[in-house]
Amino acid sequence: MTLTNPKRYTVTAALIYANGPIHIGHLAGCYLPADIYVRYLRAIGEDVVFVSGTDEHGVPITIKAKKEGITPQQVVDKYYVQIKDSFEQFGISFDIYSRTSHQAHHEESQAFFRKLYDKGAFIEETTDQYYDEKAQQFLSDRYIVGTCPVCANENAYGDQCEKCGSTLSPLELKNPRSVLSGEKPVLRKTKNWYLPLDVMQPKIEEFVNQHPEWKTNVVGQCQSWLKQGLQPRAMTRDLDWGVKVPLTDVDGKVLYVWFDAPIGYITFTRELFDQINKSNTDNTLTNSNIAPHLNNIKSNNWEKYWKDEHTKLVHFIGKDNIVFHCIIFPAMLQAEGSFILPDNVPANEFMNLEGDKISTSRNWAVWLHEYLQEFPDKQDVLRYTLCANAPETKDNDFTWKDFQLRNNSELVAILGNFVNRTLVLTQKYYDQIVPSPLELSHENKLILQSIETFKENIGQAILGFKFRDALFELMNLARMGNKFLQDNAPWKLITEEENTDKVRQILFVSIQICANIAVEMEPFMPFTAGKLANMMNLELHKSKDIILLEVGHVMAEPHLLFDKIEDAAIAEQVAKLEASKAANESANLKINEAKPAVNFDDFAKMDIRVATILEAEKVPKTQKLLKLTLDTGLDTRTVVSGIAEYYNPDDILGKQVCLLANLAPRAIKGIMSQGMILMAEDLDGKLSFVSPVDLKSNGAVIS
Ligand code: 2FM
Ligand code: ZN
Repeated sequence: MTLTNPKRYTVTAALIYANGPIHIGHLAGCYLPADIYVRYLRAIGEDVVFVSGTDEHGVPITIKAKKEGITPQQVVDKYYVQIKDSFEQFGISFDIYSRTSHQAHHEESQAFFRKLYDKGAFIEETTDQYYDEKAQQFLSDRYIVGTCPVCANENAYGDQCEKCGSTLSPLELKNPRSVLSGEKPVLRKTKNWYLPLDVMQPKIEEFVNQHPEWKTNVVGQCQSWLKQGLQPRAMTRDLDWGVKVPLTDVDGKVLYVWFDAPIGYITFTRELFDQINKSNTDNTLTNSNIAPHLNNIKSNNWEKYWKDEHTKLVHFIGKDNIVFHCIIFPAMLQAEGSFILPDNVPANEFMNLEGDKISTSRNWAVWLHEYLQEFPDKQDVLRYTLCANAPETKDNDFTWKDFQLRNNSELVAILGNFVNRTLVLTQKYYDQIVPSPLELSHENKLILQSIETFKENIGQAILGFKFRDALFELMNLARMGNKFLQDNAPWKLITEEENTDKVRQILFVSIQICANIAVEMEPFMPFTAGKLANMMNLELHKSKDIILLEVGHVMAEPHLLFDKIEDAAIAEQVAKLEASKAANESANLKINEAKPAVNFDDFAKMDIRVATILEAEKVPKTQKLLKLTLDTGLDTRTVVSGIAEYYNPDDILGKQVCLLANLAPRAIKGIMSQGMILMAEDLDGKLSFVSPVDLKSNGAVIS
């Protein structure tokens, strides 16, 4: 059951960890849909705040600090600036983009914790947790690695095995080691505060069940958690980086990062209103975190956006955050008692890149700051591609080829082409002035009326979180315009005097389509919408109705909205990714460990000599084996060798190889093999012959 006719909207976008730059997956998964939604709400005059910022606590930050050899504070200071800048460059129009490390947030989340504590909402539990005696600290899940009990991966984390995907707890790992010191941790008792989600389950279930309209992937994840039965979850952790637990006699404990982070949405909303209200008295907005869209913020009281039941709260997130926003945060809000609960949590699935999971550690990503260096002024092309291909219902794939195709065959060939033809013809025939259509034909009236339907469809799709459909409908409007121009061909009609009325009508209608494209395009491609609006001398003001430019309206000089992306630019990006893959592959190759020493006598027992391959054939019914006949200088003999995956029999005839000639004979697949060919195994496992250079005599001894 969703809120119908809300009075206002509070829209949040996930607080991303400030431990690295952002990539296209982040944009596609969460921030772009959120921005489209909010821009649309603003365009139709709704009251809305759009809130986000960085999550600056938790182990992801301390791990990064350790890796870079800097302090956690330095990590978050560095990445906050970079992340905020990337969002700005891509036109993500937050009213506030703040940080959980701010004092105000520490106070807000401590007060929230304290309220729950005072209400008796927590249970206190003392449990055994791993402790690193050398580093003198308790180890959170990500600081413990060990052998996965499910798949025997030796490097599984305390909370998850990345090889088999099993969810684990640290105590399940075999041979646990501390990431900090490499030492075996010991178990120590520690007290923490838990939310008894098991006891709270009925109320949470009631809340989730009120929302069958949520996206299928979201409902699916929620139901699967509920079905398994919720477990009490610790809301405090034994760490020194984070919001201190606001209780006396509690040292070295902080709030669980998933407790404090979502409260950040509340803190930042308050911060936004504090700033707005302050600026109303002293006329300055001093805080650069804030860029409020004041026309769409109609109240001056933050509580209206969090405590009024007529406010629609919408959390945009990626799928890995579903349980926290649909179950744990609502449970916290229910326990606190004075806040509204989310009305929708339109989580997207993941965006992959060229058929592979985006990965920071493997540098398999398109980083936004790098994209901007290579395609400056093409923010909207990326926004368009990521929305057209958004992972709304399943994981999707970004490819550079598709990016090029969408630009060249859709933005340039359809939208850009229609707008350009309309504006250039208007310039040529009417000096950039909207011509009078006199009496519009019935057909032309229908075309103008149909704009209304496109507008309606686009709006409905956006409000229903179907951004791909909405964008497709926008392109359909441009397609209709293109077809209209093509069918009517005013450039042909203009040559005959009796058709001049028709040409005026055609361009009048085309201009109106362009104007409405500019308005409808704004949520998706705000930079281009602005450009088009400037060219048409049009203000993108809020309007639920279609726009009609008046006869005599003077437009400005037309310019191309989009330009073609050449193959070379795409090849460069693909090559960059391939280089990344190659660098990774070589970094992942492991040099085999050294073997224990042997004495000379042992070595001298081996009779290694040069031999020539006389015959070679595949051993039937095997993949790997070749039967070789060798001239060893001593004799002609048969050796079976596991090299069929690397060499064709015909290619190796006459090749000189090294043979361990006195290896005891043994039968392999019924063939007596007398010796072993020496092979070098490359780091990726590929085998190749060890051959003497420039030697011709079979039987020559290797020593
Ligand atoms: O996944 C992440 O990057 C988390 N930092 C998201 C937190 S969203 C919210 F709860 F603050
Ligand atoms: Zn495993």
